[in-house]
Amino acid sequence: MGHVVVLGSINMDVSIECDRLPHEGETINGSNLLMSPGGKGANQAVAAARAGACVQMIGAVGSDAFGSVLCESLAQAGVATQLIAATPGSSGVAVVLRSNQNNRIIIEHGANYALDETRALRDLNAALTPNDVLLIQFECSKSLVEAAITTAHAKGCRVIVNPSPARSMSRELIGACDVLCLNETECEQLFGITPTIDENGTCPEARALQEVAKRICAVVQDGVSEKNTLSSSSCSLLVTLGAAGSMRVTSQNVMYQPSFAVHVQDTTAAGDTFVGYLAACLAADMPFEQAQLRASYAAALATTKVGAQLSIPTKQEVESYFSTKGGTTQNE
Ligand code: RIB
Repeated sequence: MGHVVVLGSINMDVSIECDRLPHEGETINGSNLLMSPGGKGANQAVAAARAGACVQMIGAVGSDAFGSVLCESLAQAGVATQLIAATPGSSGVAVVLRSNQNNRIIIEHGANYALDETRALRDLNAALTPNDVLLIQFECSKSLVEAAITTAHAKGCRVIVNPSPARSMSRELIGACDVLCLNETECEQLFGITPTIDENGTCPEARALQEVAKRICAVVQDGVSEKNTLSSSSCSLLVTLGAAGSMRVTSQNVMYQPSFAVHVQDTTAAGDTFVGYLAACLAADMPFEQAQLRASYAAALATTKVGAQLSIPTKQEVESYFSTKGGTTQNE
């Protein structure tokens, strides 16, 4: 059973609910202000830890009052925090606007972009063993993220990338990922394909996405990824589709996982919960379909509470559903 090493952002979320978003120059009233720990990297680390994985976080917080609160939240979830750097200046901050069961987020990166690259890569190298999973997102500097993916891949680790917020990736970099886990918007931004689900529960754009998966595998087989045999057998696109569930696309096939019907309060960190649970389950060598199923259920549960890390369910909460359902894949 491998560890999960997360390299990524740590933010304080300032989240407020509104009936609608303000127009330019307009001020409107909001409600239910919540200031709580977030950041895609930290949220995914917490999710993986709550899913039962041994998790190491690599990232940075600022020298402000938020820094210690953010580290404490990770530690309380069971994430190892000794490789989190404290840098001069402010911690990452995200302004979250919650409206219509969805959210819009603006980030001030702060310490997340002040992370010393040489130190982070040295720590990553020391932390990773070939059995481990690297989990990474795009809220840190491009050069660091790319070097980390390449390093982990060269060590033979499984690499799960959540390209959020989306930015361009070279074919070689995509070829170094075992799982590229992205939402519809990121899929559109990265590949120019916006996946939808039709009335039959299938995705008309799946074939085009399979072509993308085939091209990724072609890069892997070209020898760019020769060192990592895991990649050539498992490289896949995992597209989360909100209420429509998720879809795993490989060069061979497309597998759908419907979502679970829940009463949605706040979708913040639902995607992070999905990715963190997926990483933990894959690190524990669970078959992919089972990992995707648990990730889907955990993400659904995360939407039933307000906040990022506050909303991420424990392994017991997730597993109790599967034990009462006898481990079936039935939707509610
Ligand atoms: O994915 C949700 C997260 O995105 C928030 O917690 C916020 O900090 C931003 O990083």
